[in-house]
Amino acid sequence: MTSKMRILITGGAGCLGSNLIERYLPRGHEVLAIDNFATGNRQVVPEGIDGLTVVEGSIADKALVDQCFASFKPTHVIHSAAAYKDLNDWAEDTATNVTGSIHVARAAESAGVKRIVNFQTALCYGRPDTVPIPVDAPARPFTSYGISKTAGEQFMMMGSVLTVSLRLANITGPRLAIGPIPTFYTRLKEGKSCFCSDTQRDFLDMEDFFTVMDIVLGEDAPTGIFNISTGEGKSIKDVFEAVAAYLGVDAGEVPIVPPGDDDVPAVVLDPAETKNRLGWSAEIGFEDTINRMLAWYDRHGVSAIYSHLATPGQASDGQ
Ligand SMILES: NC(=O)c1ccc[n+]([C@@H]2O[C@H](COP(=O)([O-])OP(=O)(O)OC[C@H]3O[C@@H](n4cnc5c(N)ncnc54)[C@H](O)[C@@H]3O)[C@@H](O)[C@H]2O)c1
Repeated sequence: MTSKMRILITGGAGCLGSNLIERYLPRGHEVLAIDNFATGNRQVVPEGIDGLTVVEGSIADKALVDQCFASFKPTHVIHSAAAYKDLNDWAEDTATNVTGSIHVARAAESAGVKRIVNFQTALCYGRPDTVPIPVDAPARPFTSYGISKTAGEQFMMMGSVLTVSLRLANITGPRLAIGPIPTFYTRLKEGKSCFCSDTQRDFLDMEDFFTVMDIVLGEDAPTGIFNISTGEGKSIKDVFEAVAAYLGVDAGEVPIVPPGDDDVPAVVLDPAETKNRLGWSAEIGFEDTINRMLAWYDRHGVSAIYSHLATPGQASDGQ
């Protein structure tokens, strides 16, 4: 990694953005976070922290984005902002995920940024032909979030700044508040019934994500598009059983329901090319990943639960 970075993080108040701030600030890097708090949490990016500037606003606002780049003069950009909250708000998804991404890519060119790291959803692959999904599988998104994020990624990759786009598995770590893990944790603790969609995901621990972030922010690191995942598919029932075991709950038989129309049965990314090109692979196994997440909830509780899927409460999340 570059010795001293000035990192502009879009969506800095979100789950990944805030975790990255907590990683890089203590290491002596300066951070500017821009966030409109659509799904982010104001409290995780408080005012008055040394080395951290917080700007409230949308990346869809070109003048604001240009002003942030001109005043902060970032050396690196982590583009983590994304809109997905309302499945039917195509205009907001497009404003943030497409137009906002263009503003960030263009401002980064003008500011002479060395490197951009973009985050992409595995939903860009839509319903894939093969699982695990290789990184060169065709993009076939079919949701507003997936479509707009795919266009956004394509624009980011067209810019002249060195750009890395990470297509991410379900990352688990501090403040994760969506998907099966927090849902089962909350419901089982309250003695409520659960059901599992008949789907598979792969779950990557935040520490493994940090390791790959350190690599791709490096000066000579390869650029391009990478699948960031364990490559190991786990069913939602596996997650349910791991959470029940952690809580010491005998949850009995859990109903398994077929995936909804807007769901994808298996979202498991193949990280083989990533290993070849970046020399990175996940090190933390499934049980440890789940247990580390649950231990965090024991300490801090679960905050709001948002879902990308049409049926709220259906505990599979295809981020
Ligand atoms: N967390 C995962 O497992 C995962 C998996 C796949 C892809 N991703 C991608 O990683 C990125 C971060 O995801 P996350 O899980 O941290 O989600 P998140 O919702 O916690 O973070 C997104 C942040 O972007 C902010 N935001 C939304 N619209 C904005 C706008 N117009 N201007 C400025 N800020 C805006 C939100 O308020 C939020 O703080 C997203 O691009 C997402 O598509 C995440």
